[in-house]
Amino acid sequence: MQYFVKHTTLKNKLDLYRKNGKTIGFIPTMGALHDGHLKLVHASVYECDISVCSIFVNPTQFNDVSDLVKYPRNLPKDSALLKAAGLDILFAPTILEVYPNGMDIRVDIDLEGLDTILEGAFRPGHFKGVVQIVKRLLDMVQPDVLYMGQKDFQQFTIIRHMIKTLHLPVKLVVIPTEREPGGLAMSSRNERLSAEYRKKARVIFETLNTSKTRIEKDSLVTIKSDALKKISDAGLIPEYFEIVDGNTLQVIHDPSQHEYIVGLAAAWAGDVRLIDNLIFRGKN
Ligand code: PAF
Repeated sequence: MQYFVKHTTLKNKLDLYRKNGKTIGFIPTMGALHDGHLKLVHASVYECDISVCSIFVNPTQFNDVSDLVKYPRNLPKDSALLKAAGLDILFAPTILEVYPNGMDIRVDIDLEGLDTILEGAFRPGHFKGVVQIVKRLLDMVQPDVLYMGQKDFQQFTIIRHMIKTLHLPVKLVVIPTEREPGGLAMSSRNERLSAEYRKKARVIFETLNTSKTRIEKDSLVTIKSDALKKISDAGLIPEYFEIVDGNTLQVIHDPSQHEYIVGLAAAWAGDVRLIDNLIFRGKN
């Protein structure tokens, strides 16, 4: 596995591969890797000639400074996992490499409200930061295929919108969520859960599954209030439980009018904020 910090040296290397007709797959991450990330790496290694993974904890997407400070970082461990997964190139740029002084790296596109609902309502500015960093990384790596996880449903929906709006020459592939044995969605934040909360947090996926089975027969208002109650009865503090159209992310009122329906939830397990989702109808 090759390791790059500077984007110019990475670009020179990737240009050589491109000249030789090699396809490039790209997995952007913030490190603290788990099996969910490795599933994206495996897909890229399988489907592309050269696979690049970036590790960069992006400050512009943290609306809460303490979350940024607490974010787990372990480059040696991550690097060993990526090497074992067969990755070709690890790109771990410094902050100045990504955001050089004076460089205007704003991405001025209309996110059409996708960024202000659900996660965006609780984390103001978060998705503007995500769009900014993903665009910057795409400019640096120029991959043929971008791999993202389904766990961050709103994130990949917004990135898909950005790719379409800016006509970026990259294909987005979304990989289903990897789960712990009890169903908890894998997340770098799970490292901070106590054993007790790790068990309690299973309720999020259980509730999504139960709700999915009810959407054909019960009122959505009742399904959502039952879900919120179940999550809080289990000892978590729910922030939202919504049933939305998978394309627009707008809350739905009549399931018969939608082909693509997703349940999305966010809840606090102690001081750890968890999110999850389940496709109720249709597919990515
Ligand atoms: O999902 C993440 O880990 C981050 O939001 C991403 C896409 C790497 C951008 O920093």
